[in-house]
Amino acid sequence: MTDQPDIVPVTLGARSYDVVIGEGALDSALPAIRELCGARAVVITDSTIAGLHLDTLTLALDSAGIAIDPVIAPPGEDQKSFSGLEALVDALTHAGVERGDTIIAFGGGVIGDLTGFAASVYMRGIRFIQIPTTLLSQVDSSVGGKTAINTKAGKNLAGSFHQPSLVVADTRFLATLAVGELRAGYAEIVKAALIGDAVMFGRLEALGARVLDPDHIASAIADAVRFKAAVVAEDEREAGRRALLNLGHTFAHAFEAEACGGVRHGEAVALGLALAFDWSAQEGRCPGPDADRVRAHLAAVGLPTRVRDLAGGPYDAALLAERMRHDKKNAGGSITLILAKGIGNAYIEPSIEASRLADFLEDQIA
Ligand SMILES: NC(=O)c1ccc[n+]([C@@H]2O[C@H](COP(=O)([O-])OP(=O)(O)OC[C@H]3O[C@@H](n4cnc5c(N)ncnc54)[C@H](O)[C@@H]3O)[C@@H](O)[C@H]2O)c1
Repeated sequence: MTDQPDIVPVTLGARSYDVVIGEGALDSALPAIRELCGARAVVITDSTIAGLHLDTLTLALDSAGIAIDPVIAPPGEDQKSFSGLEALVDALTHAGVERGDTIIAFGGGVIGDLTGFAASVYMRGIRFIQIPTTLLSQVDSSVGGKTAINTKAGKNLAGSFHQPSLVVADTRFLATLAVGELRAGYAEIVKAALIGDAVMFGRLEALGARVLDPDHIASAIADAVRFKAAVVAEDEREAGRRALLNLGHTFAHAFEAEACGGVRHGEAVALGLALAFDWSAQEGRCPGPDADRVRAHLAAVGLPTRVRDLAGGPYDAALLAERMRHDKKNAGGSITLILAKGIGNAYIEPSIEASRLADFLEDQIA
């Protein structure tokens, strides 16, 4: 039997919306989609997702009296580009999308980020719905309103804050996802627990590898989305607390940049979480046993927690530290890291010396 989906509100005044999560969430959300889209909706997706799931979406929306007009992009991060944006804006114009219309992003984080950014600029801003189909996008990128494309100089350098009007995370779509993608998305769930919810971490830890089973994943997604929704409601534009969501990410971005695309984001995040806790423990900020629990749980679900386990190596400590020094969140020459005083208790540490970080990474690599 399918459980009732969870509905997590993101409370942002006039920009508030619901995230509907669970097996069959799409069916539950049809009346809300109909209200937003009317009798016709332009759906932006990629060719992989279209091949797997567009029929399901078409049938469901049709049952609610919504005809769809699909725009199908090639899959891949390359679509988050000025040329991808231009092609999408042209397609929206061609489809006759007007100022009052609502478009639908149906796919992973790439489709969500691209569609959200296009929605924020098309005719100076139209509404959009997120129907995320990867674990990463269900738990993280579809919620919070960050949209972006990449530029030649780096990832997500042109973007906007543009909240969706509804997010529908139907876990049935995850059935076709490669296990590596599933694990990578799971790193963002663990991250949420590590930042601010020790009880949630305890639940994940007790499940171990079974947490990725269809029976358990929906409630883990809902817990993580509830946590992210609260952080976003408090600090929509990342002036303070929202920066905590970068736990593990400064390490991860450095490894990803050095690996030149040879590593999944979530795998780098998993290693980054383990390193952030190791560093915190080494500095006497966090109990050592907490760092051990973090590493043990990530390893139990098959995520890398040692530098040697991460694809894309070998890595050089000095080059990694240099990448971290140039992270866009830094100010005044020293490195800002999100660290932890324990499981569920992350904080912002703004003054870390690059040379000490290089020594730490050297030890980790050895
Ligand atoms: N906006 C934010 O807050 C935020 C947060 C985190 C990440 N992101 C962005 O998200 C992007 C990564 O997202 P992603 O990991 O979802 O990758 P993705 O969108 O590239 O999807 C990964 C691959 O899986 C395929 N796919 C999608 N759904 C599938 C399904 N149900 N079954 C089988 N295959 C499926 C896609 O076609 C693609 O080839 C990055 O560009 C990143 O910058 C944004």
